[in-house]
Amino acid sequence: MSRHRIEAIVFDAYGTLFDVYSIGALAEEIFPGKGDALAQMWRDKQIEYTRLRSMCDRYADFWTVTGDALAYACERLDLPTDEVAQARLMRQYRQLTAFPDVPAALERLKRHGLPLAILSNGTEDMLASAMAAAGVDGLFDHVLSVDRVQRFKTAPEAYQMGPDAFGCPVGRILFVSSNGWDVCGATWFGYTTFWMNRAGLPEERLGVRPVMAGRSMDELVRFVETNQA
Ligand code: LAC
Repeated sequence: MSRHRIEAIVFDAYGTLFDVYSIGALAEEIFPGKGDALAQMWRDKQIEYTRLRSMCDRYADFWTVTGDALAYACERLDLPTDEVAQARLMRQYRQLTAFPDVPAALERLKRHGLPLAILSNGTEDMLASAMAAAGVDGLFDHVLSVDRVQRFKTAPEAYQMGPDAFGCPVGRILFVSSNGWDVCGATWFGYTTFWMNRAGLPEERLGVRPVMAGRSMDELVRFVETNQA
């Protein structure tokens, strides 16, 4: 048996399965010249707020945090207060498409008999609408929203949902995320990890490394198939 033989796969959602590019594109359409800056600051604030709220036990769900982060980012960038525009940007979160490499790779992993899950900061509602829009609902055995434990990743309570759902040791579960910080948190927690480094970013300096890294779902599938052979 190989060291990393796996029994199930858990995916992060935003940026890993669901393409958040359309958010930046819509931001640019609404606020020409400021779209990239808005999308970047929005995402950074959103994640910062999840961490602060988990650290201080002040949970508010991801939809709320995402709206708060958007309002902050708009004001910080001196964008006109426009509730209709902000509502359009929020709605985009529910209508994300999957990255083109996602559906076929998920089908292939399922054909290997591996159960699949999503483990995300997103609320169940956000995840359900994004999955439907991306056409990948029905492919997952579990959709695990941290809303159930009211703590965001990288809190241990959030990562614990994976082994609880599959009923197997955490090291037998492959955790896949495009977010460097998420893959570090999951590695610390004990998952076998695959960093889907879609953007070609440098490794986080946290004294921990993902078990494996690649750029796409196809590389993930190759890793799984080699590993399980
Ligand atoms: C998620 C974010 C962190 O899906 O990408 O949890």
